[in-house]
Amino acid sequence: MNLSEIKKNAREKMKGYCRVCKVCDGVACAGEVPGMGGAGTGASFRANVEALAKVKLNMRTLHGAKDPDISTELFGKKLSMPILAAPITGSDYNMGGAVPEEEFIKMVISGSKAAGTLGMCGD
Ligand SMILES: Cc1cc2nc3c(=O)[nH]c(=O)nc-3n(C[C@H](O)[C@H](O)[C@H](O)COP(=O)(O)O)c2cc1C
Repeated sequence: MNLSEIKKNAREKMKGYCRVCKVCDGVACAGEVPGMGGAGTGASFRANVEALAKVKLNMRTLHGAKDPDISTELFGKKLSMPILAAPITGSDYNMGGAVPEEEFIKMVISGSKAAGTLGMCGD
């Protein structure tokens, strides 16, 4: 399955809860809680997306870092990158329930592990 098929599938499964926008920036879903939008005006969600977009990578031809290492250590565990999967819960009331909570959490945790980092489950 390619990415556009995955997104089409997700749009059907999450209909009414998440639009699976081309760019996930918290604009279309602002304030849609329960759901995938940011609470209130959704301003924090958008501010975080804008802050992340400010991080740019220089082309390899412009620097001498031939073997960059972005691994880090957290709770005594080596991680491949300083990124964790956020805790997200409520597959029923936030996502429409097409994927059961247990299956959703297993995917987040196993995907994070496969990427060499940690995933969190919601509370
Ligand atoms: C649908 C949904 C469910 C969430 N469930 C939890 C949760 O159970 N526990 C928690 O600590 N945070 C939860 N969060 C918050 C996210 O982990 C948080 O939004 C994420 O870390 C990004 O940080 P930010 O909201 O500051 O941008 C949830 C967020 C969403 C969108």
